[in-house]
Amino acid sequence: MKNFVIAIDGPAGAGKSTIAKLVAERLGFLYIDTGAMYRALTLKALKKNLPLDDRKKLIEMAKNTDLKLIQKNKKLHVIVDGEDVSEEIRSEEVSRNTHYIASIPEIREILWDMQRKYRETHNIVMEGRDIGSKVFPDAQLKIYLDASVDERAKRRYLQLKEKGIDVDFEEIKKEVMERDKKDKNRKIAPLVKLPDAVYIDTTNMTIEEEVETIIKLYREREFKSG
Ligand code: DC
Repeated sequence: MKNFVIAIDGPAGAGKSTIAKLVAERLGFLYIDTGAMYRALTLKALKKNLPLDDRKKLIEMAKNTDLKLIQKNKKLHVIVDGEDVSEEIRSEEVSRNTHYIASIPEIREILWDMQRKYRETHNIVMEGRDIGSKVFPDAQLKIYLDASVDERAKRRYLQLKEKGIDVDFEEIKKEVMERDKKDKNRKIAPLVKLPDAVYIDTTNMTIEEEVETIIKLYREREFKSG
């Protein structure tokens, strides 16, 4: 029997990381943030000053990168060539530029292989954009986590404010819409609402409600497949 996969896809700012982490913790599953992998390669390319439109160089770089996700003390650490870049990959510069790496088929293939390997040894909660469509089309539970553009921009705005970063709400909203467009219109593995995914609109839900909804769905599926 294949290990259980809960695939959580959805647009930026829908709260996937928070929810995926909590669900994994409660069920004792491995939590994998695939966005962190695309971010990690982007950070490396930026640090090496590689031109982000030079696909050949980026593919070469990806092939020669030792990328690891390690869970330590309830935190997911992203290690690139031996260096912990967990914090650095969250910068605005990386967020803005990840679409270059994300649109290269050969690089997605490399990351998909890595992502699929986790299932060989663990039950997993994996979040991203293409988990249900490309990485694990046979995932036992697929979730599409959504929220309105305004709500996602508000969450992002408050997050940045909390960090002491002064930002303009309209500017943030524009960025959120821009990232949606890139995620949904990408030629390879765009973000899609799959017919077999459970759609959850989190606009008016609390974190606890979201986690409970997913765990309930898991119990139903586990019962059916077990
Ligand atoms: O989830 P995130 O915001 O950390 O993702 C960063 C970027 O990586 C985002 O622009 C979309 C891309 N991404 C992707 O193309 N496929 C995934 N499975 C996860 C993220």
